[in-house]
Formats: sequence, C-alpha cells, structure tokens
Amino acid sequence: MHFGTSWYPEHWPAERWPRDLELMREAGMTVVRLGDFAWSRLEPEEGRFETDWLAEALDQLAGHGLSAVLATPTAGPPVWLTDRYPDTLIVDAQGRRAGHGNRAHGSPSSPRHREHCARIAGVLARRFGRHPAVIGWQIDNELNALSHDEDTRRQFAGWLKARYGTVEALNRAWHLAFWSQEYRDWSQLPIPVGVQHPSLTLAWRRFATTVFRDFVRCQADAIRAHARPGQWISHNVMTAQDDYDLAALAEDLDLVGLDYYVGRLDHPGSGAHHDVVRGLKRRPYWLMEAQPGSACWSQVNNALDRGEARRLAWTAVGHGADAVLFWQWRSSPGGQEQYHGTLVGPDGRPRPFYEEAAVIGRELAAAAPALAGTVPAPEVAVLQGYEDRWAVEAQRHHAGFGPTAYWTSFHRALRLRGLDVDVVVPSTPLDGYRVVVAPTLHLLDDGTGERLLDWVRRGGRLLLGVRTGMKDTENLLLPGRQPGPLAAAGVSVVEYYALPDPVPVAGELLGGRAGRARIWAEWLDPDPAAGAQVLLRYGAAGGWLDGRPAVVEVPLGAGTVTYCGAWLDEDGTDAVVGRLLAGSGIRAPLDVPEDVELCRRVRPDGEQVLVLVSHARERRSVALPEPCTDVLTGVRHEDAVEIAGGDVVVLVPAGDGPRRA
Ligand code: GAL
Repeated sequence: MHFGTSWYPEHWPAERWPRDLELMREAGMTVVRLGDFAWSRLEPEEGRFETDWLAEALDQLAGHGLSAVLATPTAGPPVWLTDRYPDTLIVDAQGRRAGHGNRAHGSPSSPRHREHCARIAGVLARRFGRHPAVIGWQIDNELNALSHDEDTRRQFAGWLKARYGTVEALNRAWHLAFWSQEYRDWSQLPIPVGVQHPSLTLAWRRFATTVFRDFVRCQADAIRAHARPGQWISHNVMTAQDDYDLAALAEDLDLVGLDYYVGRLDHPGSGAHHDVVRGLKRRPYWLMEAQPGSACWSQVNNALDRGEARRLAWTAVGHGADAVLFWQWRSSPGGQEQYHGTLVGPDGRPRPFYEEAAVIGRELAAAAPALAGTVPAPEVAVLQGYEDRWAVEAQRHHAGFGPTAYWTSFHRALRLRGLDVDVVVPSTPLDGYRVVVAPTLHLLDDGTGERLLDWVRRGGRLLLGVRTGMKDTENLLLPGRQPGPLAAAGVSVVEYYALPDPVPVAGELLGGRAGRARIWAEWLDPDPAAGAQVLLRYGAAGGWLDGRPAVVEVPLGAGTVTYCGAWLDEDGTDAVVGRLLAGSGIRAPLDVPEDVELCRRVRPDGEQVLVLVSHARERRSVALPEPCTDVLTGVRHEDAVEIAGGDVVVLVPAGDGPRRA
C-alpha cells in the first residue's frame, strides 16, 4: 500500500527539496511520482542530456525513505524539438497544427516524435533503471489525442490495407455502396471527421488503439532494456478519455494508473471508474492522481468537503487501488494550473488540506498489513466493450442514450446491494463469475455469442440489455433479428423504439408497483418452446408496445438468459438484478444501507478485509455475522458496527483486538 503525490522538483531550488520531502514523510507518504513534463530540463538541447538534477532528487527521495515512480517527460516536448521538427506536432481534426505553449502537442503516430521519446526514455532508464528509489515507470501522460496529418492518414490507409487486403474487400465489408462511398484506391481513404460512415469511424478508433500501443511499446522497450527486474511500467488513464481501447493498451503494461478528478464524490458512480480501471487487467491498480481539494479546469472548481478526499481514498482502496497519490504537491507559481489544489502552497507551507492527507497517510499505514496481498474477487461481472460503446455513441438514436449512463445503471444496482463488480471487456474469460451482466453487446460475432451461451449452459446467469446483437464487428447490421447469435437462447427482438416519453411496465417481478421504461424499449418475442418466461410487459400507452413483453427469462442448460428489453427506471433495474442474483446464491458479505459503500478485498487464504465508507450524514449501524476488528482504530465490534456519518471502517475478523468498551 503506497501513499504519495506528484512532485516537480524542477520547479523549485534544490535547497528547498529536503523540506518538501520531510513534509511528505510527516504526512505518511511513501512514494512520489516525478519527471512527467520535465523534458526541457532533461534534454535542454537535442542530444544534450542533463540528468544530474534528477539523480540528486531521486537520491534525496531514497534518503528520506521515499520510493519513486519515474514518468517519461514525453507529454511535454521542448521547443527545440517542435521548432526543428514541426512534423512531430499534432494536427487537429480541423487541420490546425499545434504550436508550442501547451502540452500533449507531440503526435504519437509521428515516427520522429516516437524516436525522440524512445531516446529520452532510454536515457532515463540507463541512468535510473537501477536506482534504489525507482520502483516503477510511467510512460507519457493520459494519452488521448491522435493527429490528423497526412502521414497519419497514410498510416491509417496502410493499416486498413493490412486488414482488408484490397479496397474491393473493404467496400464489401463496410457496405460502401451506400451513398456512393466506395473507394478505388487506398490513397482515397480519409480520416473520419464528424459524422462519417460508421465502419470508417470504428476502424479509425481501432487504428488509434494500435497507434497508442505502438507509442507506449517504443518507450517500454527502451525502458525494459535497462530497468532492473521488478521495476514495473505503467500509464495513467482517465476513464472518460476512451476513444481507444484501454483494455488493449493495458495488455502492454504491468500496472494501470487511474487519474480521477471529481466535483463531488458520488457512490456508486465513483466506484464505477475504479471498477473499470481494475477490470483492465483484473488486478489492483494505482490511483495515480486525485485532487487535493479542488481541480482547476472545471466550470466550478469546488473544493471537496472536509473528509471527502478521505472517503475518496478509501473508495479507491476498497475497489482495488494499491496506492493513492494526490496531484500535485505544491502550487506551481507559473503555468496553466496555478489554481489547482495542492498540499503545500506557493509559500511552501502546508495548506489546510495537508492535514486531511496526513490522516489518510496514517490510516493507509495502519491498514497496510491487513491489505497486503488482498484483491477484490467479484463473482459478478459487467461486460463493457469499447467498440460497442463507440458504435452506440456514434448512433445514439435517442439523444438521451448515453452508453455509459446505461451500463452504469446496472452497475449501480449491483453496487447498492453491496456486491463487488468487475467491469471487463467482452472477450474476458467468464470462468469464476456466476452472474454476468452484458448491457450492450452491440457488435456481436458468432464466437462471442457461442462462448456466452456455453458459459450459461454450464450454470451462468446472463443478463442482456437493449441493443444487443444488432451488428457485426464491422458495424454492419446483422441479417437476423436481435440479439443475433444470442437469439439461439430463445428470445428475440421484433422491433426497437426510441421513447420520447416513458412507457409503463408491469409484471410479477415488480409486484404491484408501476414501473417505467424510458429512452429505449424493445418489443420482445419469447420462444415458449424454449421455456421463455415473461417477467415484465409494457403497459398501455397507446402505441406499438402495448402489452408486449419487455423482460424475458429463458432457462438454458444449467443457467439462464434474461433479456431486459427496456431501459428501466431504478426500481425496475434493481428488480431485474435482484431476480438474477436470487438464483445465483451470491450474497453481499454484509447487509449495508445504500449510503454505506461496501467493498471486499480477499487474501489468497480466503480471509477478507471489508472496507465500509459511509456516504451518509447520520450514523449507520451494520450487523456483523462475526466479531470484527476495525484496523483503523483497533476497536473490536461484536455483532454490529456503528459508523458515524462520513466515516470509514476497515474490518477484519477479530483476532486479539481490544474489546469494545
Ligand atoms: C491530470 C494531468 C495532470 C494535471 C492534473 C490536474 O489530468 O495528468 O498533469 O494536469 O490533471 O489538472
């Protein structure tokens, strides 16, 4: 368990460094991320490297018992580079080439940019690959933008050629007779801008994934050539910057960092970000950046309330973060982020937030022994594919159909029941899960369909949501009815409707309660021969859907497939999820009220650590099946734990902890 901050020693005189490092230690910090954006100081002129200052900073870190994550500075190309090699500069969708004066202006597809990035990464790795303070590396920073220059377009055409072989094959694969969009030569393939052919847009995003992977690999290879065994390689992502496949990128990394900035902590919405990032490798990750109070780039940069960052830190740890780092340590006197929250002000003195950070530091240290070796081990997965999301996003059909809002509606229902949830891409092996929710497997091939059905036959409980199995992996409509290959289970879709107004739903599943479908509804056709059972029907609204099946459950082998054909309100979604779980035997480790977030981390020997984060204002009582000790206070709780509003407890089965007074 690590606790730390982003530190920019190059912004400050070296005489100041020891004081900063002491203050970090006093706040309980164990790790510092540094180096990101320091290119102009590390290579002030082409080929002239100045790394002594960084060596001194790393030595001082080691001297203070602090570890370091060394970031390559490649998100801040220096002016000598961009001046001499303007081809390294990114070109935006409107054709404007970036200039100097901001960051992330280097083009990840530019061979020359890559060459310079790999070179500086190699220089750093040669010098610091064996430095005792350096435990890991971060490559670049929040990759997300791709250049629209002519060379990148050529690369894209080359990538398409490798995939399709001939333009004729591509014309067929994308059905380009539509609007005379057929191509005759690879040189005619454009970079999609704005509303373009859906298959072209999808291909561009797939290409973006390969560009970012190659970009990261160039640097990773340069680092691995010199890094000592055990030094890991990471990249920091924001879940909202996902116009490329984060899971594919994660395959080349040892560890993923999450940068998470928020106006207000919101359970379970915040937890979804953590579950997405943990799901990228199905392994613990690092909260690489979190705001110490406020950010500086939103509409209203409110400070987190007192105690909110503590809850944020524990939410992260509960969901599987093995480190929490605040960005950044000290306010930089100049630059675009002067207003951002920090722990230390421009005067070098702790700001009010420092005290809360110190509490987090103390608590993480107290819980570290119990958390060592633990991982979240959910039995429930939500499948969330990047390609599905892009395809739906590009053709929402109802402006209110936000794919993220849709899949998180299921995640939310699961989390409010206190269950841990993996959010993983559809290609993830499903063994080990008992329940799988697949909100929108929009682009579905036969192989994936068969794999899912096979898992169901072996006892899995699968919930499918709307717009499932509508298209093939080239983004073409499938010739059969929805849900394509999954229709074999015994339920198919007759028609879909974007709803201007909500439509009533009712049925046994809701008891006598009136439910509502909103935004999207599908008219389902259950196959009685397959044993399909209608769980909810649309009520009378004077339209096509009146009386039609809305939610259908079909037994299949030892499992079940439930097709939820409507975007239901919260109560309806919860009822469907409840039904799914009821037959699975999965239970949350504790019964928690909705405003107490519960996360479980499990040790290899099966012993569990329960993290309870109260988002309530008032005190809450949670019953315990066995006596537990709160590792933060050392207090033992017998048959219930009382949690004050906004408080956190971290429970392990009671050993010899002190008895509650
Ligand atoms: C992140 C970025 C940091 C810093 C931070 C605060 O997205 O990685 O370098 O800019 O935001 O705005």
